[in-house]
Amino acid sequence: MIDSHSHILPGMDDGSKNMAETLGMVRQLHEAGFKTLIATPHVLEGRDFLSPTEILTATEQVRQAVTEAGIPVEILPGAENYIFPDLVKWVRAGKLLTLGNTGKHILIEFPLLEIPHYADQVFFELQVLGITPVLAHPERYRDLSDQPERILDWARKGILLQLDLRSLSGHYGPQARQLAEIMLNSDLIHVIGSDAHHVSSRELTYLEGLQSIQEIVGKTRYQELTRLNPQTVLEGNPLRGDREYFLKGSSIKKRRSRFWNLFRR
Ligand SMILES: [Fe+2]
Repeated sequence: MIDSHSHILPGMDDGSKNMAETLGMVRQLHEAGFKTLIATPHVLEGRDFLSPTEILTATEQVRQAVTEAGIPVEILPGAENYIFPDLVKWVRAGKLLTLGNTGKHILIEFPLLEIPHYADQVFFELQVLGITPVLAHPERYRDLSDQPERILDWARKGILLQLDLRSLSGHYGPQARQLAEIMLNSDLIHVIGSDAHHVSSRELTYLEGLQSIQEIVGKTRYQELTRLNPQTVLEGNPLRGDREYFLKGSSIKKRRSRFWNLFRR
């Protein structure tokens, strides 16, 4: 399986602090079944901006340490790029890293509390450049819990969607869990990620997430989300086309009335 989102590079962001912690995380993800990890440190415009060279160098160091430790896991470079209005200019200037450094798919993160008004413009401009945006953990953005239709709209426009494994266990709260389930039921997830920042204190946390996904989407789709789709992304190829997306069992009205019914009983 391929983990499309992780913070395993030591000392780069709020993830792993040192190589020992990195190796602990890689071991844990390997035990959960991952054979390939894409390292996606937070990249933010500004003073602490992390350059592609820094990320590529750190990825190579982790790759060597993982090999020396005898863990059979492949480490590939990437970045979780925090959205800003000039993001596309930076991409054109070669200042932002794509997933697997193929130049074809870029992982984009939003602020958790508010979707920026320029988000659609950035997505559009990236697509004009021939780069497919991959939205990191849409289920975790507060603005989207009331409007999954926006996620549907992005999927229809060719934006890829990445689910955090721990959203399914309620790690990020009930709203993220509910939206994660809606997206899985609606076939609106393309790739998955651990979004690991540290060694998880709960050994089974990733396995449980994977199991929940398989229960919801079935074996064939599970293979697509965990292996085939991320492999295609890493090859720099587009995912299968001609898909029609729909929201299933997601009427906000229905969900709200269910919520209030709990108090009426
Ligand atoms: Fe992340």
